[in-house]
Amino acid sequence: MPDGGAPGSAGSVAPGGAPGSAATVASGGLGASTAAVPAAGRQPGVATPPGAHAVYRAFLLREGTTAAKLRGWLALLGDDIERLMSGRPVLGDVEPELGEAPASLTITVALGRGAVTRAGVEAPAWLAPLPAYKIDKLEERWGEADVLLQLTCDDPLTLAHADRVLQRESAPFATVAWVQEGFRYARGARPDGTTMRNLFGQVDGTTNPVPGSEEFEGVVYRSGAGPFGDGSTSLVLRRISMDLDLWDEVDRSAREDAVGRTLKDGAPITGGVEKDEVDLAAEKGGWPVVADFAHVRRARPAAAGEKIYRRGFNYNNPGASGADRAGLLFVSFQADPVKQFHPIQARLAELDMMNEWTTPVGSCVFWVPPASARTAAEGGFPGDVLFA
Ligand code: HEM
Repeated sequence: MPDGGAPGSAGSVAPGGAPGSAATVASGGLGASTAAVPAAGRQPGVATPPGAHAVYRAFLLREGTTAAKLRGWLALLGDDIERLMSGRPVLGDVEPELGEAPASLTITVALGRGAVTRAGVEAPAWLAPLPAYKIDKLEERWGEADVLLQLTCDDPLTLAHADRVLQRESAPFATVAWVQEGFRYARGARPDGTTMRNLFGQVDGTTNPVPGSEEFEGVVYRSGAGPFGDGSTSLVLRRISMDLDLWDEVDRSAREDAVGRTLKDGAPITGGVEKDEVDLAAEKGGWPVVADFAHVRRARPAAAGEKIYRRGFNYNNPGASGADRAGLLFVSFQADPVKQFHPIQARLAELDMMNEWTTPVGSCVFWVPPASARTAAEGGFPGDVLFA
């Protein structure tokens, strides 16, 4: 695994130095390698704290990319990722200075059905497009792809460099299907661990399994033997446009009723503080306080196992209009998207006040393979389980 260092530690970073040298970037500063180290067998970018900025870059395999070439590409990515995440230049990096400060960079490799099949392995049934929901207005340009790289980082320059390096190295093997960029609070703007806000001003991400907890393990990670088992997970990415103009027309109490939580601090409208559960049984004058159409009432699990881990990012294009203007890169991790994500989305598609102002325009599902048990130097790479 990359030598990321413990959360908050300075990490071992070589500014412009040779791979493996151990000069240290300003201790504890934002430039340091502060990404938490994921548990053995897990890729970073799932349980690790999300960086302030994200790039999702999706690829389609070139026709000539055979299983052997795919293996070669993933091995190359594995080596690059180890280097980039620890602040070391990739081999032949022409701008090595841009990667000196990892700034909590995490890079996650995810594979779609096409890549698994190309590797000569039968893909599991759940690794497939989600059913069509009646709220969807999906655009093909944000659709399924063969390989996805998820990059998150606290520094947009480091991120741009890492993304560019990986794009360049990938060109012989695949074409770019799409790129989606997102952001959260800048690191340092709020205390670490503060729940993010989306562009509607809502505190978004409160009721979520806590990384490291037993619940998180069960919700997010798959178990069992074989490549699609231990330490692997699935990633759903839905690009959901948010109509800021229409939202402007809604008054504050109607906005809060639409979700079931306050705008001030994300506390339930039934009282309490942010982390408290919404009391769905609460009544006022014989009427439920939390409406039938409230997002949290509809999103809450209706049966055991209907839980997901949400880890999204905002997108904002001030110069654009329509669905491109603003929204949410809704990203969730779950062991099984069909059993866990689908029932929630199906329920929200049937009834959810938030549908008045939000429209899914992109949708895709990926498998996040476990991290290799070996380092890149030992020949390990994310996805090597497919070639065992
Ligand atoms: C742009 C679209 C969306 C917006 C703006 C949005 C916003 C919110 C907000 C403000 C909350 C309450 C705070 C929290 O617990 O995070 C929430 C909760 C939640 N949302 Fe969404 N959401 C969106 C789409 C979705 C989608 C597509 C799903 C899954 C299919 C989803 C699943 C959930 C779940 C599971 C909860 C927690 C419910 C509970 O209290 O148990 N959301 N969302």
